Amino acid sequence: MLRFSTAGESHGEALVAVLSGMPAGLRIDLAFIDRELWRRQQGYGRGGRMKIEHDRAHILSGVRHGATIGSPIALTIENRDWKNWQEALPVGAGDPEKHKAVSSPRPGHADLAGALKYNFPEARYVLERASARESAARAAVGAIAKLLLRELGIEVLSHALAVGTAAVRDAEIPWEKIQALYARKEVLLNCADPEAEERMKTEVDNALKTGDSVGGVFEVVAHGVPPGLGTYANWDERLDALLAAAVMSLQAVKAVEIGTGVGSASSPGSAVHDAIGYEHAKGDGRAGYTGFRRRTNHAGGIEGGISNGEDILVRGYLKPISTLRRPLESVNFKTREPVKAAYERSDVAVVPAAGVGGEAMVALTLARCALEKFGGDSMGEVLRNFEGYKKQLKDY
Ligand SMILES: Cc1cc2nc3c(=O)[nH]c(=O)nc-3n(C[C@H](O)[C@H](O)[C@H](O)COP(=O)(O)O)c2cc1C
Repeated sequence: MLRFSTAGESHGEALVAVLSGMPAGLRIDLAFIDRELWRRQQGYGRGGRMKIEHDRAHILSGVRHGATIGSPIALTIENRDWKNWQEALPVGAGDPEKHKAVSSPRPGHADLAGALKYNFPEARYVLERASARESAARAAVGAIAKLLLRELGIEVLSHALAVGTAAVRDAEIPWEKIQALYARKEVLLNCADPEAEERMKTEVDNALKTGDSVGGVFEVVAHGVPPGLGTYANWDERLDALLAAAVMSLQAVKAVEIGTGVGSASSPGSAVHDAIGYEHAKGDGRAGYTGFRRRTNHAGGIEGGISNGEDILVRGYLKPISTLRRPLESVNFKTREPVKAAYERSDVAVVPAAGVGGEAMVALTLARCALEKFGGDSMGEVLRNFEGYKKQLKDY
């Protein structure tokens, strides 16, 4: 089974990820992994931290001569900021005077719940791990999952649907426009609609001016997914459930929608369900896995917990960033006196970066389901199984 875990703290020496279950013989493109890390660092509204870090994946194991060897892949991403924190967060006992306590919990952060749970007198260790810096490790292993999916003709990208109250007017963005966003040298808000992107930028400017923060919505699109990943057979094997959990696990994501799930609840069935047609093969055959076609994709590519051959659409709804330059009321951990919440350097908007995290989680989930269906210990075996399944679909 494809599995991963991460370790590492925001101001620790490095982030760590271990990915196991990758078949042998997958070519690893290091420049591609680093570009995914770069994408996660971009976006209008990011704070000063991302100017310090230039994330690069350093692979320690599981890859030799440019390809996977079937054993667990371990990698690290250096935290450049560590040099400024070595005395404040030493692994050894260190000097308690140098500790940088977070003396009042910040509303919207894990600070209070984490301090109570782990019995810490203040929140420093809590925020070190709850921080979304961890999502860099996910972006790195997600990039490896994307390399596997590419071999199967599947691409996973994201785009912004909303930042604060500024939303794209036409939420149906063609795949080519999302691909064009990926090619951009400057990410800005990663929105395929230039007019909406300008309004999104104004939302961020207003938040910057007023010391506030904004949330938003990203959409992850998986293109070229064959029908048949996931199953209705058991609750915990449904693709929609797996994707929802995967994307919800990202910091600040508070709701996940598959296709137009939210709007569907208040629409009549005739306006929601995607009518089915069939295109007979012409000439040398047909594009796509089968001849079955939909003109709409409200289902977001999943019916009955199974991919149906349309693009998979997963939306992540982000709450506004919790750290505020004009902090909310809080209480001092020690004195219990009312104070303003502590302030740590922060982003004010992160929709594009969260979208890259969402892509990683969707790619890891689809790669897991694809390996469960076409499984094998080498890429040759996986591709052979995949080709057999493609033929089965063509002959259907
Ligand atoms: C890419 C990304 C970057 C983030 N950067 C910040 C930040 O700079 N400041 C902040 O307060 N929250 C930031 N967050 C959100 C917090 O990490 C998150 O809200 C917090 O850890 C509490 O967890 P929860 O919102 O999942 O409950 C970021 C989230 C993401 C996805």
